Amino acid sequence: MKTILENISEKLKKAFVECGYDEKYGIAVISNRPDLCQFQCNGAMAAAKQYKKAPIAIAQEVWDKIKDDPYFKQIDAAAPGFLNMSVSDKALAGYVAMMGSEKDFGFEPGNTGKTVVIDYGGANVAKPLHVGHLRPAIIGESLKRIFATDGFKTIGDAHLGDWGLPIGLIITEMTRRNPELPYFDPDYTGEYPAECPVSISDLEEIYPFASARSKEDDEYRQAAKQAVVDLQSGRRGYIALWKQIMEISKIDLKKNYDGLNVSFELWNGESDADPLIMPMIEDMKSKGITRISEGALVVDVKEESDNKEMPPCILLKSDGAAIYASTDLATLVQRERDFHPDKIVYVVDKRQGLHFEQVFRTARKAGIVRPETDLIFLGNGTINDKFGHPFKTRDGGVMRLEMLMKDVADKVYEKMSDREMDKDEILKISKMVGLAAVKYGDLSNQATKDYNFDIDRFSSFEGNTGPYILYTMVRIRSIVEKCGQKVGAGSLSEAFSEDSLNALYSGRDVSDSERELMLGLTGFSQALRLASDELAPHKLCTFIYELSNRFNSFYHENKIISEENVSLKKAWINLILLTYGVLDKVMELLAITVPEKM
Ligand code: ARG
Repeated sequence: MKTILENISEKLKKAFVECGYDEKYGIAVISNRPDLCQFQCNGAMAAAKQYKKAPIAIAQEVWDKIKDDPYFKQIDAAAPGFLNMSVSDKALAGYVAMMGSEKDFGFEPGNTGKTVVIDYGGANVAKPLHVGHLRPAIIGESLKRIFATDGFKTIGDAHLGDWGLPIGLIITEMTRRNPELPYFDPDYTGEYPAECPVSISDLEEIYPFASARSKEDDEYRQAAKQAVVDLQSGRRGYIALWKQIMEISKIDLKKNYDGLNVSFELWNGESDADPLIMPMIEDMKSKGITRISEGALVVDVKEESDNKEMPPCILLKSDGAAIYASTDLATLVQRERDFHPDKIVYVVDKRQGLHFEQVFRTARKAGIVRPETDLIFLGNGTINDKFGHPFKTRDGGVMRLEMLMKDVADKVYEKMSDREMDKDEILKISKMVGLAAVKYGDLSNQATKDYNFDIDRFSSFEGNTGPYILYTMVRIRSIVEKCGQKVGAGSLSEAFSEDSLNALYSGRDVSDSERELMLGLTGFSQALRLASDELAPHKLCTFIYELSNRFNSFYHENKIISEENVSLKKAWINLILLTYGVLDKVMELLAITVPEKM
C-alpha cells in the first residue's frame, strides 16, 4: 500500500507534468508548519532554477491544476513558492481504514529475498552479563525484528566470547583448587566425568577471584595465558572441561537473554571460527596482501583518504597466536560460506570502531565478502548513570544486569502498590513494565549516542517512556472492552465502507484531535521505513510517543463510550483499535511485551 506521502506526490507529479515541468519536483513531505497545513511541496523552488521562472509563479500554475481535487481540504500556493496542503477528512479516514485491512498496516517490505546477519551478543562465557551487554542485545533484537518485517531473512548470532582469557583464568584457578581432577592430568587417557565439576554460581565466584588475582600476580596471569594456548592447541582435558563449562554457561546466558526478550538463531562462539583462521591466512598470504611487521603478520589497510590513524590489521601476533581481528575475519568467512548474506550488521560498543574498520577493510582486500555485501558497524554509545558517570554498583563494582532489572521492577512495584490486584499479579506486571522501562529508555535514544540511565525518569508513567506507552495501550484495551469488543480481533476496516465514510467524514465537524490521530496513524509506514533503512529503532519510539499523545488528546476530548450515534461510535472504536494495533506492532518490533492491565 502506498504511503499517504506517495499518494499526494503522485497527484503533484501529474500536475507538474501537465504544467510542463519535470515530475521530479512533485514531492510531498510532512509540513514543517503543522499550524498551517499537514503536508507541503517545495518543488517549485527547485524547479525555478531549472526553468528560470519565479517559484511562486510555478507554484500557482501547479496549484491551479489540483485545487479542485476533492482529496484535498485545503491547498495554497504560498510565498516564496510552497504548496501547502491538507487532505480532506474523508480521504484521511479512508486511508486509515485501508491500513486496518492490510498486512502490517500497509507497510511495503523493501528487502524481500535478501539475507542479513546481525551480531549483537558478544557476551563472554563464564562472566555474568553486565550493563555493557544491554545495549547490543536490546538494539540488535529490535533491528532483527524490523529487518524481518522489511522482508529480510534474518539471522541473529550470539557470537560468544568463549575462547579467550576468562576461560584460561578459570582453568588456572580450578587447577589450583582441585588439582586432583582428571582434566588437569596431562597423562590421563580415560573418560572424563559426565557432569561439569562446577556450577554457574561457582563460576560467578571463581571468575572475579581469578581475574583479581591475575592483576596482582604475574605468574598466575602467565599461567592463565598458557592455559588458553594449551586449550586452543587442543589439550584433551582442557577441551573436555571447557565444553562442559560452555554448556552450563550457554544455558545460563540463554536464560538471561530470554529475560530480556532477546533471542538468537545462532549460538556460535569465537571458537567456531577458529578452524578457519589458518586456511584463511594461507589464502591471504598467497594473495600477497600480508607482510611481517615486528614479527607479527599484518595486512595494511591505510587508505589515502584517511585523515585518522589507521594501523595495519594484525592477523598473527609475534608469538604466532591468532587474535580478535583474525577471529572476526574467520567468522566472516564462515558467514559468507553458510549464509551468503547481503548485509552484516554488528551492534557492538562504539569504542570498537577502529577494530571493525580494520576488519572490514581487510575482508574487502582479501575478497572474503562479496563487494556488494554491506558491512555495517553500528557502534552503540555507553550507558552512564543518572549523573553521566560510568554505571557502577553502590560499592563501585560492575553493575550486573540482573541487579539493574530488579531495581527497576522494584521501583515500578512501588508505584503500583495501590492497585486493586493481588500481590503476585502486581509483581508480575511490574517486572514486565520494568523491562519496558529499561528497553524503551534505551531504544528511544539514538543507538550511537551515550545516555544517562535515570531510573525515575524511565519508570515514570508520563512522558516519553515505556510505561507511558504501555499505559496508553492498557487504556485503549479497557475502553474497547467496555464497548464489548476486543483488541487485536477481526478486520478493522469494516465500519469504513464508502457509504459510512461519506456519512461520517463529509458532513460532520471532525474534531482536531480526531483528525490528528488519523494523521498520526498514516505516518506508520514512513517511520518503519526510516527505522529499517537507517538502523534506527529510536524513530519508531518517537513515532509511538507522538501517536500515544495524539490518542490521549482524542480520548480526553471525545466521549467514546457514551457516544450515542451508533455508527460514529463504531468508527471511533475502529480508530482506536487501529491505534492499538499499530502501537502493538511497534512494541513487537521493539521486543517489548505489553501487559493487559497495569
Ligand atoms: N566479546 C566481545 C567483547 O566483550 C564482543 C564481541 C562483539 N562481536 C564481534 N563480532 N566482535 O568485547
